Amino acid sequence: MNSKKNRITGFAGSNSSQSINRKLVQYALDSFKDDETELLDLNDFEMPLYSKDREKEIGIPEKAHLFRRKMHEANAVICSMAENNRSYTAAFKNILDWCSRIDLNIYGQNPMLLMSTSPGKYGGQNVMNTAKSFFPKCGAEIIETFSLPSFYENFKEGKITDEALKDELLSKIESFKSSIQHGKKAKN
Ligand SMILES: Cc1cc2nc3c(=O)[nH]c(=O)nc-3n(C[C@H](O)[C@H](O)[C@H](O)COP(=O)(O)O)c2cc1C
Repeated sequence: MNSKKNRITGFAGSNSSQSINRKLVQYALDSFKDDETELLDLNDFEMPLYSKDREKEIGIPEKAHLFRRKMHEANAVICSMAENNRSYTAAFKNILDWCSRIDLNIYGQNPMLLMSTSPGKYGGQNVMNTAKSFFPKCGAEIIETFSLPSFYENFKEGKITDEALKDELLSKIESFKSSIQHGKKAKN
């Protein structure tokens, strides 16, 4: 048995105050009652739009270092990607671009539960596929992925209402928990 608490850091790839992806991340974090959890808000990491010229001019903003530090200090990451025009939101992509200029190990070799949701029936599958292929290059060890389709039909009052989808996520969370306990960044 591990006596120390894990630190699970979550974020949604959205800067919307009503983000459905944020609600999904909060739901997943609720399963980690015995651990320290933190849900980041991308609005706290808003930076000028990345450009090489701007980087030359201002250097890398402290908020990019802070985001990276939050990831590295965690020993597991849970995120849910919002899909805009089949890809990342501009808010998330800007953070990714700035952080990648520090180095590409953004997620600190952490185990990751990668999710996505949207109001449509594909549940953000396009952005999920993009993140799934790229995040391992950014220091994420993706343990499980989960897409929640048709958010407004399947999620109400902070919970997944469709039993099959709920069971799928909860069983993936169990497998994720076990890989945190046995992984490289386990707290012993
Ligand atoms: C500019 C824009 C583009 C969008 N493109 C897509 C898309 O390609 N696929 C999709 O499933 N939903 C798309 N949506 C709908 C988003 O999935 C929906 O706004 C969702 O609430 C975003 O997640 P969030 O609430 O966590 O920000 C788009 C929404 C906006 C505003």
